[in-house]
Amino acid sequence: MWRPPQRIKWKTDPGPWPTAQQAADSLLFTPLALGPLQLSSRTWVPAMVPWRATEDGFVTPANIEWYARFASGKPGVIVIEATGVRDVPSGPLLRIGDDRFIPGLRKLVDAVREASNGQTKLFIQLIDFLSIRRRPDPQKFFERFLRITDSHRAALNLPQADEAAVRAALLQGWQASPEAVSALLSAREREALEMGERERVTDVHLPHIRDLPQHLPGLFADAAARARSAGFDGIELHYAHAYTMSSFLSALNTREDGWGGAREARVRLPLAVYAAVRERVGKDGVVGCRFLADDIVPGGNRVDDAAWFGEAFARAGMDFISLSRGGRFEDAKQPKVGGVAYPYTGPSGYECMPQYISDEQGPFGRNVEPARQIRQRLRDAGLQTPVVTAGGIYDFATAERLLQDGAADIVGLARQSLADPDWFEKVRSGQGAAVNLCRYTNYCEALDAGHEVVTCELWDRKGLDAPGIMKTPDGKRRMVPPPWQHD
Ligand SMILES: Cc1cc2nc3c(=O)[nH]c(=O)nc-3n(C[C@H](O)[C@H](O)[C@H](O)COP(=O)(O)O)c2cc1C
Ligand code: SF4
Repeated sequence: MWRPPQRIKWKTDPGPWPTAQQAADSLLFTPLALGPLQLSSRTWVPAMVPWRATEDGFVTPANIEWYARFASGKPGVIVIEATGVRDVPSGPLLRIGDDRFIPGLRKLVDAVREASNGQTKLFIQLIDFLSIRRRPDPQKFFERFLRITDSHRAALNLPQADEAAVRAALLQGWQASPEAVSALLSAREREALEMGERERVTDVHLPHIRDLPQHLPGLFADAAARARSAGFDGIELHYAHAYTMSSFLSALNTREDGWGGAREARVRLPLAVYAAVRERVGKDGVVGCRFLADDIVPGGNRVDDAAWFGEAFARAGMDFISLSRGGRFEDAKQPKVGGVAYPYTGPSGYECMPQYISDEQGPFGRNVEPARQIRQRLRDAGLQTPVVTAGGIYDFATAERLLQDGAADIVGLARQSLADPDWFEKVRSGQGAAVNLCRYTNYCEALDAGHEVVTCELWDRKGLDAPGIMKTPDGKRRMVPPPWQHD
């Protein structure tokens, strides 16, 4: 993962934890209305993909155990990992693109209700993503994948050459001088060679991309209806990071067909998706979205764009907006040959999941000030929509302060919940000192990047011989943290 060049090492310092009485008097542990729902506290576990679904997208016992373990800490909301709205192969990621996925998801909902005594509301994050290919072996790229055009013939000065001859000339040239052949390729071809081919929302020459605005509202609406019938309390539309909806919102969306360019055009599809979902879910279902307070990448959205979009979402009637930052493909690191680019490996990835090696600002709460600006824009417009922020928050004092001074209405703790799902119960009961603090080393994120079952270094080797515990297939890691041993 990319790290700021300053390389300053930061340590968590939670300061004093509250007594049970102070926690009871805090805003953090006070209920909050979210649309028609009443949250038991203003705490939130943001979506985290744990790579535990079956290869064909079904819920597994490992998924159920994972979310039940989070629920035993009784946060206000848990958002289930990004779940695909299409019924297409996507590896061990959850899917909701067909009714056959509903029974598994229903089991998950039941497990969370039971483990939290009904205190935790369960949301599902609905995602669409475009295709990305592995970084090819250059030989295969020139022999098979590259589409040969007359511009290659012209660049090689072989105007009459047949396709095989052009491929052979390019490959030979590459073996002699990769730079020289690279210079003959278009920017997209070079990217396909160096990073792996990646579709963009601006590829309107491809019919399935051109027609996304016609297809996506229905796909999201059907998925949302399934989520409601599985029993989820809320829907979080994934409009963040490197995926389709975020790319429509981004200032990098230069489509000229009415769905890109100006902010008004970029927000059209996200609003159309929301309208379709709302129509299916009705007023008693909670619907909101997660989007970026800042794209971070050059040419992308900045916080003023995000404030504008936030206001548009709130005016349209969303029940919450949840803010992340960065996590884009545009600045991702080059993968190895055969690997897939991962959108959390560049500076934007750093901003999304900041690591303890940081700059002068440090990794903690980097999304608090942007959230404040976006929330203020809503409040100035008379909109009371709750705003969720997340990013490097691990202690009660920061969480409470940011609520008290109006930076956000709900606090998300992703990696801190993974490090210790009992954070919420421990802090609420005055036992904050027992919290296992996240080290922000991103061991978990590296597992995610490698598409491996996500666990935390603080607990995954503990008590491996305990009877009945679920372990990773190699038997080396436990899948969920041991239960909290109360004093
Ligand atoms: C293993 C892992 C998987 C993640 N998966 C998702 C995801 O599915 N959807 C999403 O919006 N964010 C995802 N994130 C980002 C987190 O929700 C969160 O925004 C980020 O980790 C910063 O918050 P934190 O500092 O509290 O961890 C993931 C993070 C991690 C560590
Ligand atoms: S592995 Fe655990 S301690 Fe390390 S960053 Fe992830 S959640 Fe935090």
